[in-house]
Amino acid sequence: MTAPIIRKLSEIRALTAGWKAAGARIGVVPTMGALHAGHMSLVEAAKADCDRVIVWIFVNPKQFNNPEDLANYPRTEQDDAEKLAPHAVDVVYAPDVDQVYPEGFATMVSVSGLTDVLCGAHRPGHFDGVATVVSKIFLQTGADRAYFGEKDFQQLQVVRRMARDLDIPIEVVACPTVREASGLALSSRNLRLSPEGLETAARLYPILRDMAEELEQGNRFPPLELRARARLAEAGFGEVEYLELRSEAGLAALDHASVPARLFVAAWLDGVRLIDNVPVRPA
Ligand code: PAF
Repeated sequence: MTAPIIRKLSEIRALTAGWKAAGARIGVVPTMGALHAGHMSLVEAAKADCDRVIVWIFVNPKQFNNPEDLANYPRTEQDDAEKLAPHAVDVVYAPDVDQVYPEGFATMVSVSGLTDVLCGAHRPGHFDGVATVVSKIFLQTGADRAYFGEKDFQQLQVVRRMARDLDIPIEVVACPTVREASGLALSSRNLRLSPEGLETAARLYPILRDMAEELEQGNRFPPLELRARARLAEAGFGEVEYLELRSEAGLAALDHASVPARLFVAAWLDGVRLIDNVPVRPA
């Protein structure tokens, strides 16, 4: 059965108030729709440890720094509802825009430091939009736990810091990246790749894994970066926006894997911006 869809804040508040009164633990899965198996893994994680599960679907205009990207973002609500049906979530909250940003809305949440690097450095304002909408997701739903994918690892760290700094009583739960059999990380943007583009895109993960392995053996990052950039160009990628080794906790740039770290990449292919990251254990 498809889950009921709620569009008004007053209605989600009434529903969650009843759940809370009954002592239920509430989980929320924040999404912008165009749901795929990666989102479903978040839903399943929420279902496994919460009594009630809300799926949030809202294409957040404030996190797009490019109007064309916002206009082209897939909106597939009917399809999303069908994909969610077998997972039996309690409700889909797909708020109308004025329920999130009412007339005269004037407040932005901005997390400094963590947002100066990686995607934050290349997409001005993006993380302010994310932090603002996610603080609203937390406050509107009053959820006890929120589920985020590690594919957007910087987003995960920004959201954690925001919830901590603002004393929002919610546990942010990280779920591993879901990949195609080829290794390609699932993303709504993959829908925009041609069949050849998909083949090229699948080369990204093995290149990252090879680098991670060498870093874990104690090798330094700079020479590995040069080699990996050459391999990406040879595979057919366009501009590599960044390819960096950073600490997991504070996203500090590293020369070698001295602490738990991640390799982060953003690269263009067929006019599509792909991002991915892999963990690197300290050497
Ligand atoms: O990861 C996403 O889909 C979005 O950034 C999020 C967390 C739903 C906020 O709009």
